[in-house]
Amino acid sequence: MARHLITSALPYINGIKHLGNMVGSMLPADVYSRYLRQRGHDVLYICATDEHGTPAELAAKERGLAVDEFCAQAHDAQKAVYDGFALAFDYFGRSSSAENRDITQHFARKLNENGFIEERAIRQVYSPADGRFLPDRYVEGTCPHCGYDKARGDQCENCTRVLDPTDLINPRSAISGSTDLEVRETKHLFLLQSKLQHEVEQWVARHEDDWPQLASSIARKWLNEGLHDRAITRDLDWGVPVPADTWPELAAEGKVFYVWFDAPIEYIGATKEWADQDPENRDWKSWWYDVDTEVRYTEFMAKDNVPFHTVMFPATELGVREPWKKVDYVKAFNWLTYYGGKFSTSQKRGVFTDQALDILPADYWRYFLIANAPESDDSSFTWEHFTATVNKDLADTLGNFVNRVLSFSRKRFGDEVPAGGEPGEAEAKLGEEIARLLAEYEAQMEALQFRKAAAALRALWSAGNSYLEEKAPWLEIKTDKDGAALTLRTAMNLIHLYAVVSEPFIPATAKTMREAFSLADDTATWATAAEAKSLSSVPVGTPFTVPPVLFAKLTDEDLENYKERFGGDEG
Ligand code: MF3
Ligand code: ZN
Repeated sequence: MARHLITSALPYINGIKHLGNMVGSMLPADVYSRYLRQRGHDVLYICATDEHGTPAELAAKERGLAVDEFCAQAHDAQKAVYDGFALAFDYFGRSSSAENRDITQHFARKLNENGFIEERAIRQVYSPADGRFLPDRYVEGTCPHCGYDKARGDQCENCTRVLDPTDLINPRSAISGSTDLEVRETKHLFLLQSKLQHEVEQWVARHEDDWPQLASSIARKWLNEGLHDRAITRDLDWGVPVPADTWPELAAEGKVFYVWFDAPIEYIGATKEWADQDPENRDWKSWWYDVDTEVRYTEFMAKDNVPFHTVMFPATELGVREPWKKVDYVKAFNWLTYYGGKFSTSQKRGVFTDQALDILPADYWRYFLIANAPESDDSSFTWEHFTATVNKDLADTLGNFVNRVLSFSRKRFGDEVPAGGEPGEAEAKLGEEIARLLAEYEAQMEALQFRKAAAALRALWSAGNSYLEEKAPWLEIKTDKDGAALTLRTAMNLIHLYAVVSEPFIPATAKTMREAFSLADDTATWATAAEAKSLSSVPVGTPFTVPPVLFAKLTDEDLENYKERFGGDEG
């Protein structure tokens, strides 16, 4: 049994996330966490809302709320959606917490003591019309690298390059739209990443062979371009304040840390928030401090977040010169597109997570999204693909199997798992096949290959269907009642096995399936290879009920409705 620390990139507070955000961070992290918990590991899955920076201030302004009030509401709104998706975080925190403030300030003091922070006077975009400096997203304009004309001052959404507001061509204020901008001098703290380049390089070199290619290639690219010293403070009202004990002048001017400085530290901060809820029983430091080989730390994120997690946050952690846990495995995702175009929060294109739950329960989305996760390449969401997958895999292959077996058995043998018959060649063959597929599924989960894991799960479900077609208990019963009982009993054991191993993907349905059987041991403890092979863990005489249809079949009319509501292929 190992200790697994798991985090998914912290969703920005500024709005409800779309399906692309979900599949590229929180959902696979949840699937993986659930799997590891079922296998008996000690798992801590931490996430939080990323609440600082210009996105929060801009979103609050748009809604006419004070920023702290906006964040409190938006946090609860996001949390409600994640509960709806059955994301089983151990803790879902807030980067604006006191815990994160303290740890962020501690990191900054240590970096300063170790010579990695320097105060510099810099030239910043100032807007006379707005009467303030315009950091990051407060400036919009044309990307100097790719020409995208809605690039924001912190990063170009199109080519993912990190930018400085002064890089933008034809800049304008995101607050007032004013193009009358000037550049003024002001003092800020700089993190001297250039001094840490060599150390980060050595650290990456020790890890990159274990990482997926997407993560290591992005890390390499950043290191090859060279680490630049970066301003880690901003002129904003909302954020972690620069500590006055160390930088009295900057603190007096009201400077706060840049959101990308405090956000990854919130992985630690949220763990402390978790512990502070129950300090007697929870030890946050035992997950983060001086646990180099004791804890395995896996991070989930989309590719635009990779540089921050493979290079910049590790640089910060290294510069602190304390033994903070660094990431072991970086699971990075490509983009999920909407009909080949961009899902975009800012442009409200695609399907948002709250809307998705209005349409169908979480399990439909969880399965579809993970089965089509953009792992080796971008993948495209279309309503045609979604409805076809739901109908084939969930409604037919799994749902129909469960209902057919249980209702037929009840009709012919009553409310208990029927006795009769001795397992023969067909059952032996099935057992071998199930054990082989289960091992394949486990191997893909361990390797964090989600699409392949989904394919193995689907193959497990299909194997049941093939067995049932081959044995045809509805015919068998006419000539060999015991034989039909054996077939149905075996199929019920498959259902129970599916209930256990499908849990990471479709937890609500898995629970319904498990609860169909009145078993004393109602836990989702993983099936052993021997159990998979013998298919006899649900004993003769176990009472069962027939659950309602597990997955509704989606009709052509449903498909048309979805396309009409969300827009189809015009993107
Ligand atoms: N909020 C960022 C995004 O959505 C991710 C922050 S991840 C963390 O792109 F490491 F900073 F926490
Ligand atoms: Zn660009």
